[in-house]
Amino acid sequence: MSPDPLAEFRRVVSVRARQFPRQWEASKKLLEETAFPSTIARLRDAVQSKNLPASVKDRLLRLFEEDEPRRVQDLDGERLKFATGLPPAKALRALAVFFELVPSAATTWPVTHLSSEEVEEAVRQVKNPFDLLQRADVASLLEIGAGDLSFAEELVDLYGSDLNQRHRPFIVHCLDRLNPRSQLGGPLHANPERLQKLQRKVGPSFSFFGDQDMFGLEDLDQRGLLATRYAIATCWAPATPTFAYEPTRLSETLISSELERTKGTFQRTRFGKEPALEVRHAGRALLFPPWKFEIIGPLALLSLLARRGLLCVLGAVDAQVFWELLAQLLEDSRYRPPEQPFNPTNLPTIFGEVYHVLAGLPIGESINLAEVAALRHHYLRSSSTPFMDAVAGHFRYVRISRGAVFPGIPASSTARKFASMTEEAPPWFVTLVPA
Ligand SMILES: C[S@@+](CC[C@H](N)C(=O)[O-])C[C@H]1O[C@@H](n2cnc3c(N)ncnc32)[C@H](O)[C@@H]1O
Repeated sequence: MSPDPLAEFRRVVSVRARQFPRQWEASKKLLEETAFPSTIARLRDAVQSKNLPASVKDRLLRLFEEDEPRRVQDLDGERLKFATGLPPAKALRALAVFFELVPSAATTWPVTHLSSEEVEEAVRQVKNPFDLLQRADVASLLEIGAGDLSFAEELVDLYGSDLNQRHRPFIVHCLDRLNPRSQLGGPLHANPERLQKLQRKVGPSFSFFGDQDMFGLEDLDQRGLLATRYAIATCWAPATPTFAYEPTRLSETLISSELERTKGTFQRTRFGKEPALEVRHAGRALLFPPWKFEIIGPLALLSLLARRGLLCVLGAVDAQVFWELLAQLLEDSRYRPPEQPFNPTNLPTIFGEVYHVLAGLPIGESINLAEVAALRHHYLRSSSTPFMDAVAGHFRYVRISRGAVFPGIPASSTARKFASMTEEAPPWFVTLVPA
């Protein structure tokens, strides 16, 4: 059952206040006499512009109905408490942290000033979206789920020397959930030689964070280790089944039974000293990291990429993840039928014309998705963490390309393996510009 939106909002507001002690401390200043009127005006604007459930938004806007309040006592304390669960001064400070009125700690990494219109224009003109790094005032890229770092290596080989010659900083931050000390995960581990090469070539503006969940970046943000936004946020071969089922349209029970039916029975176990997931498939027991079957869904992935990148690129997206992701990008709800897992039989019916156009796209070709069907403008929130993962706005431009690797475009090792995986359908390459 989905939680009461206001109760969930209260919970997240308190969690944020605790998670960001520096911002919490700094928020005191916003209540001082001189800052107070502008704090209220900024909060009002922030509430107006943020994608929030209508009931929560109305309740928050009512807090600031008072004519020109000059101090906390001028506001209705009971309403503040009802909206946030906190006494008045704390309530305002927590709202200031939640709506990011206090600058984040990560001020050390510069952020590009290109507008989303400029990004769209730049990307429409080139086949290789990563060429934006040559145009952007700050060449920065975040790679999530970076695996063995082969994409980062190819990227730096392609753009590193040019940026270097032009004395332009190149910020490359990569992360992966796999613990570098784990015995599980095999070839997906960050390759030590590659890591050293990247550190040497890029210098201190290259970082790799292992054992790092992409949905738990608060600590890195707190320590100023990540930029608030990158020119490009990318993810190659997004993990399956993590992103292959969308929990806002498929129930937990259905997803579990689909997993058992398609992957086999699974249970938590141990591998030496570390926790693991054992999956029994075709008479064999396979071991994975314990979080392998955590289902997050493409909506949360899109949301994360959109919040972190002015441009988002998904490479080597396998068929299952692709259609689930595509369903989230299109306006018409017919593409998101509740409780119907996608399969090769129902895809043509559910996606209709969109299916025929995309399935017929030759390898190496691209299409502007808005020319096939209307892009989605209103996003649902991911049910697990409705506020943290609310998609930041929507996408103004989405280009779908067919294939794993493209001439002149850097690619990951999984993308390069597709050529030899003859039983796999060709994957997809998706370029998105958040609005
Ligand atoms: C299919 S592999 C692709 C690796 C690499 N991007 C490539 O294309 O070769 C998926 C990667 O995502 C990582 N991953 C899965 N869930 C993650 C999460 N929540 N946060 C960060 N990385 C995650 C896995 O450890 C794995 O390295």
